[in-house]
Amino acid sequence: MKLPNPLALLALSFLASAAAFTQITTPFGPNPRNVSFNIYVPDALAAHPAILVYPHWCHGLASQAFTWSRWSALADEHGFIVIYPGSPNAADQCWDVSSKETLTHNGGGDSLGIVSMVRWTLDKYKGDKSRVFVAGISSGGMMTQVLLGAYPDVFAAGASFAGVPFGCFAPANNAGQYDYWSNECATGQVTHTAKQWGDLARAAYPGYRGWRPKVQIYQGTVDEVVSYHNFGEAVKLWTNVNGISDTPVRVVQDTPLPGWTKSVYGPSGWVETYSAAGVTHDIKLQEDTILGMFQLNCTRNCFAWGKGSPQRADPGKPC
Ligand SMILES: *[C@@H]1O[C@H](CO)[C@@H](O)[C@H](O)[C@H]1NC(C)=O
Ligand SMILES: *[C@@H]1O[C@H](CO)[C@@H](O)[C@H](O)[C@H]1NC(C)=O
Repeated sequence: MKLPNPLALLALSFLASAAAFTQITTPFGPNPRNVSFNIYVPDALAAHPAILVYPHWCHGLASQAFTWSRWSALADEHGFIVIYPGSPNAADQCWDVSSKETLTHNGGGDSLGIVSMVRWTLDKYKGDKSRVFVAGISSGGMMTQVLLGAYPDVFAAGASFAGVPFGCFAPANNAGQYDYWSNECATGQVTHTAKQWGDLARAAYPGYRGWRPKVQIYQGTVDEVVSYHNFGEAVKLWTNVNGISDTPVRVVQDTPLPGWTKSVYGPSGWVETYSAAGVTHDIKLQEDTILGMFQLNCTRNCFAWGKGSPQRADPGKPC
């Protein structure tokens, strides 16, 4: 009897658990700011996998975003891909959520680099274009709202934790400031009407008439870094963009944690908010609640970009 080659066995067992946090260094599309591209592709990949983007916080790293969240374990379980972009801002690792470029569809900035990663991944792994998602905390939450505003055609839904509304960090006279910290916005001094916020987001992609992503907004009521004022401003923005009322249709106490209040907006529940009583800027990611809204655990008839949008009566037909 021929004994199996131990080296071949070793190679097989290695292949059987090859999934790892991996940096992509080959060109992957326009990336004018040199955002770094890290990816987790589970061994048991779904046939047309969904994609989740998880940008880190200020003074954070993509590797920490990988280690300190349950996304890779959930990707192993449900077969989706996770992209962990890394900020190019050496000074503070905050995202570019302020430049004219990043706030414009295909305009450049960090947002375009991240979207290039999504496009590359969709192509390489035959991903499901209608199931691309983004979630993040703090600067990652700010980037989440930037991506939802500037790339409504790319993202089906997003979840922002302790972030700010799209465009809130842009300096008044924005002349290409890529890593600008807006004290005015962070301390809660930027107030617009719902229509003004909506116009700001719509101006990111002039002429776009298609679907708008689902949105979850999470924030602690005693956030000491990003004023809780931004929670209410974000509600105005995303309900206006989706053409729904900013009065909730449903309020649920103690969800998903004691003291957190969930509010649901619009007949389809397109926008959800979670106000976390007594929670600081150190708000904890809620992977299961995000998973539920994005339906990342779904295998058939899943929520997808464009399906059931309150703006359109013809579900499943993107325009
Ligand atoms: C881009 O970033 C990588 C690290 O992610 C670095 O090695 C490389 O030198 C940078 N390239 C440029 C042009 O700055
Ligand atoms: C997906 O996860 C959510 C949240 O945990 C749960 O409510 C839902 O029933 C799950 N769906 C499926 C198809 O397992």
